[in-house]
Amino acid sequence: MSGIEGKVALVTGGTGGIGAAICIELAKAGAKVATNYRNQEKAEKWQAEVKEQGFGIKIYQADVSDYGACEKMVAKVTSDLGPVDILVNNAGITKDGMFKKMTKDKWDAVMNINLDSLFNVTKHVVEGMTERGWGRIVNISSINGQKGQLGQTNYSTSKAGMHGFTMSLAQEVARKGVTVNTVSPGYIATEMVMAVPEDIRNQIIAGIPVNRLGTPEEIAALVGFLCSENAGFTTGADFAMNGGQHMM
Ligand code: CAA
Repeated sequence: MSGIEGKVALVTGGTGGIGAAICIELAKAGAKVATNYRNQEKAEKWQAEVKEQGFGIKIYQADVSDYGACEKMVAKVTSDLGPVDILVNNAGITKDGMFKKMTKDKWDAVMNINLDSLFNVTKHVVEGMTERGWGRIVNISSINGQKGQLGQTNYSTSKAGMHGFTMSLAQEVARKGVTVNTVSPGYIATEMVMAVPEDIRNQIIAGIPVNRLGTPEEIAALVGFLCSENAGFTTGADFAMNGGQHMM
């Protein structure tokens, strides 16, 4: 028993890769799950697919880099499902390039979506969690926020920043029954990683001791634990799941 039956979970970026697996993991545990989307057609197609598998996930249009849009999304989720008990800040993008070619647009897009989104979404749910005396916040970072990655000054900065947010907020809300943790996936078989040129991707896989990419379901299982009742003594931590590529 995970203890989250009937709880309301909001997973940002839930229509792709790791986010989709997290939505399903939480729905399997009995949570009422909502996610946001930017591309309506893609989101509706995904929603129909998961419905066929028996999971009714609610979808809401909102850009996580837009503070006002996040406020409206949380208000809508709350009126449809109830106040948010579990928040998984998962939405993220890459716009890779060597620093000498890194444009201001690429920098800003990644910082706004990956890092500013933590403020934009969490701001509207955390007070309710502390008032009710229970909450789970999980921030999906990356191995590259821990070790850095050539071609990712923007992404690695945003992902490292996420864990600073985790540790600070965790200290502020620990006494109120709310935990805040970071999960740092390594290279997972998702569209994001498949977009890395094949030769470079193969070099990366060769450097992973378990000799394969991870699966979204492996990350989702860890997130499922962190959202469970049993994880109440775990806060402010950064969980690496990377096939041994970066051991800390
Ligand atoms: N060390 C140092 N320098 C290197 C290098 C290395 N290992 N490899 C290449 N370079 C240098 C080259 O010598 C060249 O230098 P000069 O310009 O001085 O000749 C330069 O880098 C090449 O620069 P380019 O801009 O021409 O390179 P590019 O456009 O071909 O590719 C890149 C750059 C887009 C960053 C490409 O290397 C890439 O895609 N790398 C993978 C980045 C990566 O791992 N992204 C992860 C995406 S998935 C994800 O992020 C999910 C997650 O959380 C894990």
